[in-house]
Amino acid sequence: MPGEQPGQRSRARVDFLTPSQRSEIPAFEVMRITDEIARRRAAGHDVVSLCAGEPSARPAPGTLKPAGYTGPLGTMPLRDAIAGHYRNWYDVDVNSANVAVTTGSSGAFQLVFLAAFDPGDRVALASPGYPAYRNILTALGIHVIEMQATAATRYQPTPELLDQAVAQHGPLAGLIIASPANPTGTMLGRQELGALVDWCRTQGTRLISDEIYHGITFADPGSEDPRGVTAAELESESVVINSFSKYWGMTGWRLGWAIVPDSLVRPLEALASNFALSPPAPAQELALTAFTDETYAERDAVVEGFAKARALILDAAPDLHWGTAAPADGAFYYYSELGPQLERFGSATAYARQLLEHADVAIVPGVDFDTVAGDRAVRLSYAAGEAAVAEALERILRFQQQ
Ligand SMILES: Cc1ncc(COP(=O)(O)O)c(C=O)c1O
Repeated sequence: MPGEQPGQRSRARVDFLTPSQRSEIPAFEVMRITDEIARRRAAGHDVVSLCAGEPSARPAPGTLKPAGYTGPLGTMPLRDAIAGHYRNWYDVDVNSANVAVTTGSSGAFQLVFLAAFDPGDRVALASPGYPAYRNILTALGIHVIEMQATAATRYQPTPELLDQAVAQHGPLAGLIIASPANPTGTMLGRQELGALVDWCRTQGTRLISDEIYHGITFADPGSEDPRGVTAAELESESVVINSFSKYWGMTGWRLGWAIVPDSLVRPLEALASNFALSPPAPAQELALTAFTDETYAERDAVVEGFAKARALILDAAPDLHWGTAAPADGAFYYYSELGPQLERFGSATAYARQLLEHADVAIVPGVDFDTVAGDRAVRLSYAAGEAAVAEALERILRFQQQ
């Protein structure tokens, strides 16, 4: 074109290139705050973070060595070891061929949602809930049906909530549950999970059970199902998703797994072999040691530490003068409405922002987890441990007295 400077035309054309509509999903507030924490620490602030759900990391392997791709669903020894974990913890027979190793449970969600649901399908989940379910489903063109859960159902879905969802929106292709859940920490007992399994079976709805916080539970070890009830025991057509990130504290290793029914094995293999080729080989090799008696004992000791940090929060709860809190059955989260503090600060977002600014304590407002009522609640992650929680509570009480 006359008068056009070199490069101008291509810039104008590039301006027409827009992101896909399916990528218009919110970013994760927790990760934004994590960034802010790093900035404040770099500026010399002594920040106590009860923000991310991240147990302290294990050391990374010391030497670099070449490692090849593995099978798209993981190495056979690791798939066998994961199947063995189900016999060990739950007395349930899982066939190794039905185990798919993935890049974190996050990788499993993507593959399983793609394999199980078509664009336009309806998939239900409880709100508050882990935001990535909603956002990944939305990005994949799947309709998310959020069921507003309350303290009355321990913030978990029920057959009644599901009936209401169907009456309002139509049949459901899927239901996603988490027990223990993020952000509430609440669990589904054997009976409650059984009722959801029955409901899904009669409705032809695929149940996807996120069991990433199994093993981080605070029930008496002698009680029924001390690690949590796995859907793998109750329904062979369900999909179970889990990960090395939480109980094993291996968030950065990016290793998780899905247990899928026979009909989903081939679709998952096709998707995984195109999307990721294979899960990371060194992480898979080292993850084999996750299932030894020694490692279980070490991790159970870590859970005892979480229990102490949890007790500090529960003991301090009356002095915090917040509102209704979810029963913290498992995981390492305390989710509470702010109650009287809301009148003073206006929103949970404002409360969390001012707490970070004036007291250097990072907590998360509930907006990620519940787009309707979340700005009235906050989530504290006590994965940071007893000392951090004690310090944070002291600072929070001081902050509220100012
Ligand atoms: C309920 C729940 N599911 C899944 C994940 C994803 O974990 P990862 O991809 O590390 O396995 C998280 C992370 O916080 C979570 O809270």
